Amino acid sequence: MTSATIVKGRVLSFAQSPFAGPPTDAARINDALVIAGGRIVKVGAFDDLRAAFPGAEVDDQGARVILAGFVDAHVHYPQTAIIASWGKRLIDWLNTYTFPEETRFGDADYATEIAARYFDLTTAHGTTTTCSFCTIHPASVDAYFAEAQRRALRVVGGRTCMDRNAPDGLRDTAQSAYDDSKALLERWHGVDRLGYAITPRFSPTSTEAQMDALGALWAEHPDCLMQTHLSEQTDEIEWVLSLYPSARDYLDSYERHGLLGHNGLYGHAIHLEPREKDRLREVGAALVHCPTSNTFIGSGLFDMAGLMARGQRIGLATDTGGGSSFSMLRTMAATYEVAQLRGTALHPAQLLWLATSGSATALRLQDQIGNIAPGMEADLIALDLASTPAIAQRADRAEDVWEAIFPTIMMGDDRAIAQVWISGAKV
Ligand code: GUN
Ligand code: ZN
Repeated sequence: MTSATIVKGRVLSFAQSPFAGPPTDAARINDALVIAGGRIVKVGAFDDLRAAFPGAEVDDQGARVILAGFVDAHVHYPQTAIIASWGKRLIDWLNTYTFPEETRFGDADYATEIAARYFDLTTAHGTTTTCSFCTIHPASVDAYFAEAQRRALRVVGGRTCMDRNAPDGLRDTAQSAYDDSKALLERWHGVDRLGYAITPRFSPTSTEAQMDALGALWAEHPDCLMQTHLSEQTDEIEWVLSLYPSARDYLDSYERHGLLGHNGLYGHAIHLEPREKDRLREVGAALVHCPTSNTFIGSGLFDMAGLMARGQRIGLATDTGGGSSFSMLRTMAATYEVAQLRGTALHPAQLLWLATSGSATALRLQDQIGNIAPGMEADLIALDLASTPAIAQRADRAEDVWEAIFPTIMMGDDRAIAQVWISGAKV
């Protein structure tokens, strides 16, 4: 066996979903794990692992909490430089800030510069997997995957397709969307740790011909994910219904073109009709909750408790740069706050599970990443539960591990990420 490392600390893993029963019953805390060959080999008591792996190096992380790296299930890496842009709601925000910035990604050097900056930021924040929209430019996809490959990251991404309601320089056609997406999929899907997602931006920026073309591509590659946006703002929904007069609802504008399925990922999904909820669950599609974006752009309050109770698959995401942070800790805090506004207090175990296992499950990567178990890839982080004086003094009063973790979820940022491992290697 390749040389093994024993990582010692408070190792937090999940035996099941903390939404399936009492949240704390789902979590396991051990005091060590063994990494070898980029994977987790064993989890257990330090003394047992020390005896079983006598030659292993020991990496003592002290009181830090070791958990799976965060999985950010919906982002736009090309919006890195325009995060926190003031004063607009969705459609105006796209036209004022997003589209002009995305126009720049035809320049491969600029795309590479931003991809590198983006992954520097996500890694510093403990995010080890991202699922990103790129731009309509193939160069933006190449830059994203090449940079992730260089860093040995497991990521998902795709070329964003738009053939209407977007400015000059940012529109393709049904045919070029199909051809470019197919070529990029063939270049990158399944290479190293990379996965391709077919990516119509959202119904308003695609003609029915483009939706049909991308639906056909997905039917040819059903193992690929398909990512898009759904029911983010109420005036967006009205616009969709006017652009697709025969659609029963927003979801139907995808469904009737072959863009609803088991491997579908639908970002936001705030204002859903009963039929849409039923269909999403029936086909086994995943929703992605983007709470800092939904408050920042003024979109609304996602119904986490209601949708979870119906058995909906749900991941968590920053939605950079509509979201106001690169941090999944900040995103968990916003998830807690939005749920509180809807009358539910989510448990810290549920928040951590959503940001790791929940998102990995949404991306159909639950057998590779998002939890700590033998055989899984060793993308890990060590959380410092006393990363600032304000957090430390609150954690000091904690009566159990959950009370110790919660102040870091609510008030933590990149300073709480004490260590990151990618494929078993320290970054
Ligand atoms: N809907 C369509 N495009 C976007 C985008 O880039 N960000 C968000 N938040 N919503 C969208
Ligand atoms: Zn988005």
